[in-house]
Amino acid sequence: MTREEYQKQSTDGLYRAIARLKAERGAVFLVHNYQALEVQKIADHIGDSLALAQAAAAVDARLIVFCGVHFMAESAKILNPGKKVIMPDRGAGCPMADMVTAEQLIAAKKAHGDPVVVAYVNTSAAVKAESDVCCTSSNAVKIVASVPPDRKILFVPDRNLGSYAARMSGRELVLWPGHCYVHNRFTVDDVRTARDEHPGARLAVHPECPPEVAALADDVASTSGMVALVRDNPRVGEWIIGTEMGLVDQLSAAHPDKGIHPLSRRAVCNNMKLTTLAKVAWALEHEANEVTVPDEVAVRAKRALDRMLELS
Ligand code: 13P
Ligand code: SF4
Repeated sequence: MTREEYQKQSTDGLYRAIARLKAERGAVFLVHNYQALEVQKIADHIGDSLALAQAAAAVDARLIVFCGVHFMAESAKILNPGKKVIMPDRGAGCPMADMVTAEQLIAAKKAHGDPVVVAYVNTSAAVKAESDVCCTSSNAVKIVASVPPDRKILFVPDRNLGSYAARMSGRELVLWPGHCYVHNRFTVDDVRTARDEHPGARLAVHPECPPEVAALADDVASTSGMVALVRDNPRVGEWIIGTEMGLVDQLSAAHPDKGIHPLSRRAVCNNMKLTTLAKVAWALEHEANEVTVPDEVAVRAKRALDRMLELS
């Protein structure tokens, strides 16, 4: 069937088609916490970037359908090169990952006298290949702290996550001027308004938020870190969640008895929302939008990802 034909199907029809195709093709679905709730429902593994990288490395099935953004699918391919990895929409990129190129990083390494490069996983495979170790939002502090104290550290590309890791580890970092357009938009005013509206609520924000916003939060955590916070604090009845709306929707569905309030409803990652059930069904039927990484890049990028997984 064509993508247009799938787009005309009902949601129930799409779930049935996806289940049938999944069994036929021997596929496994890795789904990020920011996907639309209806896409989250098809997940074999749902989680943050670290959990999905760990799951990808352990996949046994022949085909991985990655519902997230391109750098995540690329990491899955690098970590499990024998599997075919496809994406429902090949245009789903991460604008922050495009804020540093391999050429720019090579020049910066020279300018800073060969520092240790810590690369957020939100980077291309080519940038990972030029980096010493990767990190995610859930292990950035630990990874930065593991660098020998006499070495200079260049952190790419998210300056907000880098500045959070610097504060928490006590290390000085050279920060790249990159940011996430979704999280960088949260303001101190958003915090004041949300706290006024929900005075008893606990505020958890993602470390991609600006430092002045993170400083006002009760907790700073990755997306799966927030899932664990809400689950492990049953006595807290109200939360303000400072991250993308997909996670807010997931938490609201999982905890209908709690007040789960977004820090801002503007926090939508359009790239994450490019994945739809119709595109999943179409890509699966045609095994379309395969993600590949040239061998010489993949081998070097894998070293940085493996080092991160060993330290996690
Ligand atoms: P997490 O690893 O916390 O899920 O974050 C990924 C991401 O892209 C955040 O914007
Ligand atoms: Fe990239 Fe931000 Fe979207 Fe995450 S939320 S995928 S960092 S643009």
